[in-house]
Amino acid sequence: LFEKIPLNLTVNNKAYKTSVEPRITLLDYLREELHLMGTKKGCDHGQCGACTVHVNGERVNSCLSLAVMNEGKKITTIEGLANGEELHPMQAAFIKHDGFQCGYCTPGQVMSAVACVKEGHTNSRAEISEYMSGNICRCGAYPNIVDAIVEVSKGGTKA
Ligand code: FES
Ligand code: FES
Repeated sequence: LFEKIPLNLTVNNKAYKTSVEPRITLLDYLREELHLMGTKKGCDHGQCGACTVHVNGERVNSCLSLAVMNEGKKITTIEGLANGEELHPMQAAFIKHDGFQCGYCTPGQVMSAVACVKEGHTNSRAEISEYMSGNICRCGAYPNIVDAIVEVSKGGTKA
């Protein structure tokens, strides 16, 4: 067993003052300690994007980040994306455009898509696909995911 290290961070606007083993990833911390199960563990090796969260507003594969590297940072997971009862426009767009089938990749896709729009990588469908290429969908919902991102990038979808 490893000695635990103090960790202070904010997750979905809630402050946590805790201590964690140095080897635990941000992904496992979110799922196992905070029981936020929306963030998925696909590959656990940075190759599928299912674990994508926002750290200080930037998208990050949480399986590649140790929890202790996030001292003082602001984490947003899929559970924290919506504003109360109202869906985030990207969530609404995924529903409208059928941007998912089994849904396993969807939380990561949505978090990545929000970041993709914020980064301004939405000038063409090809550019969107390139900047979403870190998020794998085994169901092949890619064209519909791009449709959703195109709509949001144009100022679209209210729930
Ligand atoms: Fe993190 Fe696959 S679980 S990239
Ligand atoms: Fe099934 Fe993407 S919707 S993996």
